[in-house]
Formats: sequence, C-alpha cells, structure tokens
Amino acid sequence: MSLRAVILVGGQGTRLRPLTDTTRKDMLPLVDRPLLSYTLEHLARHGVEEAVISCGYLPDQIEEAFGGGHSGVTLEYAVEETPLGTGGAIGFAARGLDRSFFALNGDSLREADLDQLVAFHRTTGAKATILLTPVADPSRYGLVRTAADGRVETFLEKPRPEEIDTDLINAGLYVLEPEVLELIPPDRAVSIEREVFPRLAADGAVYGIALPGYWLDVGTPESYLQAHRDVLERVFATEVGDALGADFTLVDPTAEVDPGARLVPPVYVGPRAVVEPGARLGSLAVLGAGSRLAAGSVVENAVVGSGATVGRGCSVIGSIVGDDAQIGSECALHNLAVVGPGASIGAGNFIDHGLRIGAGQSIPDRALRFS
Ligand code: GDD
Ligand code: MG
Repeated sequence: MSLRAVILVGGQGTRLRPLTDTTRKDMLPLVDRPLLSYTLEHLARHGVEEAVISCGYLPDQIEEAFGGGHSGVTLEYAVEETPLGTGGAIGFAARGLDRSFFALNGDSLREADLDQLVAFHRTTGAKATILLTPVADPSRYGLVRTAADGRVETFLEKPRPEEIDTDLINAGLYVLEPEVLELIPPDRAVSIEREVFPRLAADGAVYGIALPGYWLDVGTPESYLQAHRDVLERVFATEVGDALGADFTLVDPTAEVDPGARLVPPVYVGPRAVVEPGARLGSLAVLGAGSRLAAGSVVENAVVGSGATVGRGCSVIGSIVGDDAQIGSECALHNLAVVGPGASIGAGNFIDHGLRIGAGQSIPDRALRFS
C-alpha cells in the first residue's frame, strides 16, 4: 500500500548564503533541477503517490515550480501561520491521517530502500522508525543510540562532543504511526527531535535502522559542490545520472559547444548555454541554462548557474557562480569561492579561500587579490 509523505521545508538555509538570498535552499538547482526534485523522485521510486509539502513560510517558489504534482507525486501544501517546529509542522500537515506515513526533512539528499524501512517498521511494531546514517561528525545532527535490535535508547539532538559515542545519526526520514500525532500539542512549536523522539525512546516505542544507500546534508557551499559531484559521478541513482549515461556527459541539444572547446566528463551543459573556443568545461562541471563560458576559460569541479557569464581567460575551480552573475575576464575563483546571484565581478579579480560575494554586489576591476 502506498504511504503518504510529509516533507518539511521550513528552514532558512543561512549557511548557503548568498546563494539562498534569492532562492530558497530546497529549490537551489542541483545540476538541472531543484534539490527537492531528487527527494520527490526518491519517494516516487518507492511507491509514494501523494505528499504534503509542509512549509513554515510561503512556498511560492515550490508551488511555482512543482504546482500540484512533480515526478509522479501529487502535492498538497500545508502552510503554517507561524513556524511550528519540525514536530508541530508534521502534526499540522498530517492531521486526519489514520495510517502509517513518511515524514522527512526536505533539505537533504538520500537514497535508501524505503520498502525495507517500512518492512522493518512493521516487524518491530514501533510507533516511529528513523532512518539512520553514519557521519564523521554527529555534532550538527540528531545522535541516535540503539540496542542490538534497533530499539532507540537515546535520541540526542546536537550532542556535545563528550556525548558522542556512536557515528549513527538521524537521516531525517521517518515512518510514523498516527498515534505519534497525539504527542504533538497543536497550539505551539514542537521539535520532533527534542521532544517527541526522546519521549518515544523512553517508552521503547521508536526504532532506528541504517540502510545501505546515500545520504548528504546539503547545507554549505562545500556540500553543495559535493552533491553535484555525486550526481555527476552517478554515486547514487538519479534521473540526471541516467541521462548522463555511460559517457557521463549531458549536453542539452539547444546548447552551443564550439568544436574548439573541450568537455571533460562528467559534465553537464544546460539548454542554450554557450561554450566558446578554447574553453574547458570539466571534469565535474555544470554550466546552467543560458549561461556562457568565454574563450580560454576553465571551469572544473564547479557550478555556473543559469544565465551567468564567465569572461575570457578565467578559471573557476572548486567554486560556485550564482545565477545571472557576471564574471569579467581574467578572474580566478578558487577554493570554495561563491559569487552570489546577479553579482558582477570586474576583470582581473582573484576570489579565493571561501570568500563569498553577496547577491547583486558589484566588484570593480582588479579590486580583490590573494597572494
Ligand atoms: N514546516 C516547517 N516548519 N518545517 C521546518 C520547521 C518549521 O517550523 N523548522 C524546520 N523545518 C524543516 C527544515 O526546513 C528542514 O527541512 C527540516 O525541517 C529539519 O530542520 P533543520 O533546521 O534543517 O534541522 P537540522 O538540519 O539542524 O537537523 C535536522 O536534520 C538532521 C539531518 O539533516 C534534525 O532532524 C536532525 O536530527 C537530523 O540529524
Ligand atoms: Mg537541516
């Protein structure tokens, strides 16, 4: 039987500024489509037909892009008057549901066998089952200690360093029984991680399981680039990966790649994008729709957003150029440089060491240098 899903998309995405100044985090492009598309694709692959997008503030950009459905999933929108927290939001969006459902964070990327997760949930008789994933540093996540049979002993959101004794964390996807909704008071903000899961753990009613697959929290420029690399390298199953095919190259038929330019796979060139002679794109590069890479420029392990221009003789390496940004000639963007959407960078600038240029900001010629 198909389970419904509640997808939480309330957060602000501050660590991805300035990219999130104009686009909400879950709608930032990942290769050729919004981040959230991957979540819907994943749910659809596991038989989810209906989802509620649970929003702490107006979901304009999501509704504009996805409307009443996307990737074969019918969508409804539940908009809170004021943000209700992760638990309150689930309570608000899932009210009236009378059977098991998925609830998940919309700001991470994952691939896991959800059918297996539901099967495990059924065998334990849990009220809630949490998908777990190992991470190198659990401090920014929900640490989950389990017994050998998967019963959650402790759920500890944002553990202190001395509390970290496992690498397993909450991957932000749950199977919940409707009874869980009874633990969520309707009239105030409630955190599922800080209130509901600890309480269920005390009752032995929540289980967790780590399944093989993929998981990434896309919260920083570094992880945003990592997400691009993983999709382009086909590390996990995606529609984009399928379209890239065996040669790991996807060039939209409306793009213009000069015969004197070089594409190094994995590489993606979006609709109407232009790559001029002597330019090199790749490996691990994305050139968004309608953007232009001028002669002699190099873009490697980097993302150039839609409608952006990279001038002649530039090098963009390990960095991100936001939508509609203009990069003048002979610039170098290295080591996690981020140029905000609509920014305009004059010629001969060196942007390095994670420097971020704000959305719409203008930098004169030869103003920034790193020696
Ligand atoms: N509708 C709604 N209303 N959604 C919300 C609200 C709210 O008031 N507050 C947060 N959200 C959404 C966020 O947009 C995000 O998709 C999800 O709920 C989780 O909130 P975050 O603010 O991103 O939490 P986090 O990243 O610090 O931690 C969470 O995710 C980790 C995995 O990425 C927790 O669930 C951790 O336990 C987990 O390990
Ligand atoms: Mg998050």
